[in-house]
Amino acid sequence: MTSAQPLTVPALRDGCPFDVPRTYVRAAEQGPAVRVGTPDGSECWLITHHEEVRTVLADRRFSSDAMLPGFPLMTEELRKMVGESRASTPVVDDQEHIRRRRLLTAEFKAKKVDALRPQIQRMVDDTLDEMIAEGGPVDLVSRFALPVPSAVICLLLGVPVGDHDFFMDRSHVMLDFAAGPEAMMKARLELTEYMNRLTAEKQREPDEGLISHLLTSGELPADEVAGTGLLLLLAGHETTSSMLALSTLALLRNPGQPARLRENPALVKGAVEELLRYLTIVQNGVGRVALEDVEVGGQTIRAGEGVLCMLSTANRDEGVFTDPDELDLRRDARSHLSFGFGIHQCIGQSLARAELQIALETLLRRLPGLRLAAPFEELRFRDGVGFYGVEELPVTW
Ligand code: HEM
Repeated sequence: MTSAQPLTVPALRDGCPFDVPRTYVRAAEQGPAVRVGTPDGSECWLITHHEEVRTVLADRRFSSDAMLPGFPLMTEELRKMVGESRASTPVVDDQEHIRRRRLLTAEFKAKKVDALRPQIQRMVDDTLDEMIAEGGPVDLVSRFALPVPSAVICLLLGVPVGDHDFFMDRSHVMLDFAAGPEAMMKARLELTEYMNRLTAEKQREPDEGLISHLLTSGELPADEVAGTGLLLLLAGHETTSSMLALSTLALLRNPGQPARLRENPALVKGAVEELLRYLTIVQNGVGRVALEDVEVGGQTIRAGEGVLCMLSTANRDEGVFTDPDELDLRRDARSHLSFGFGIHQCIGQSLARAELQIALETLLRRLPGLRLAAPFEELRFRDGVGFYGVEELPVTW
C-alpha cells in the first residue's frame, strides 16, 4: 500500500460550478488509482481515468455490497442508512442480483420506453402549460425539473394521480441531505409504508404498471416488489430531475448552444449525451470494495480496500474527449460513463434519456426567450452530496 496522499474526499466545488472539484482533478493528474482520506478517518482509492474506471466497474473482483467492511461510505450516518434500507432494497452483485436485474431490465427496454414517449410528451406539455399560465419568474426546479420525472415514475409504477404530490414531496426529502438524517429517514419510512399499501392494492386490483407486472410475474414476494418500487424511486427520480435543471442552466450559460438545438431538434439525442458527460451528476463516484488483491493502473488494491470510481474525471479524460472541459453539443459523447458500467450499469438509462430529450427539446421550443431570473453567482448548488444539482433555478421568458 502506498502512503496516504494529502487529498481527502468528498471534495467541494471550488471554481466554476460546472468544473470538477480541484481535488479530483489533482488526483487524476497524480494517476489512475490514487489513495485518499475519507471523513471517517479511513482511506480509499480514487479511480480517476476512463479506462481504469471501466475496468474496475466491469471486474467481478470488486463488490458493490455497501455492507462489506472497507466499502467507502464516508460517514457513519450513511452506513446506518444503508443498513436500514438493505432489507427493502438489496443492491448486491450475486446471482440474486442478476435475477432481479433481469426482471427489471425487461421493464426498461428501449422499446418499452419508446412506447411511453407520447405520455412523457403529454406530461411535459401539461407541466409547461401550468408553468406558463402562472407566468415568470418561476423556480424551474420545483415547477418543471422535479414534477416531470416524478409524474413519469408515478406512471411507471402505477401510483394514482391523487398521490403524486405526496410522492414527489417525500421522495425529495428522502434524498435531501440539507433536511437532516431524521427527516430523511422519516420520509423514507412514509414512502415504504405507502409502497407496501400500494402493492397490496395492486394485488387486489392489478393494472398496467410495473408493480402489477412484478406481482403477476410471481418472481418476487409482495414485500420485495414494494422494496423494488422504492429502489426505482430512489434511483430514478432525483437523478433525472437534477440532470434536467442543471442541463437547462448549462444551456443558458452557453447561449450559442440552445440556438443550435432549436434550429435542429434532431441534435437533441447527442446533446443529452454531451450534457450527461459534462455534468456527471453522480459527482463523488460509485463505490466498490475489492474482494481480492487486484492490480489497477499500476497499483495493487488489496482485498478489503474500498475504491471510488470517479465518473466525473473519467468523463473529462483528455485521452477520450478532446477539450473535455468544453460543453460541445456536437461532439460524440456516447462513451461517457455517467450511467456507470458493467453489471450495475443504470437500469433506467433509456427512460432517463427519453425524459431528458423530450423535456429539453420542448422547453427550448416553447420558451425561446427562456433566461435566468437571478444572478448566476447567487444560485445554490447541491455540493458534496451524491447527486450534484441546483437547489433552485429562477427563470423567466
Ligand atoms: C440522469 C439520470 C440517471 C443517472 C445519471 C443515473 C446513474 C446511475 C449510475 C451511475 C448507476 C450505477 C451505480 C453503480 O454502479 O453502483 C445507476 C444504477 C441504477 N439506476 Fe440509474 N441513473 C439515472 C436515472 C435512473 C432512472 C430513471 C432509473 C429508474 C427509474 C434508474 C435506476 C437505476 C437502478 C435500479 C440502478 C441499480 C442497477 C444495479 O445495481 O444493477 N436510474 N444509475
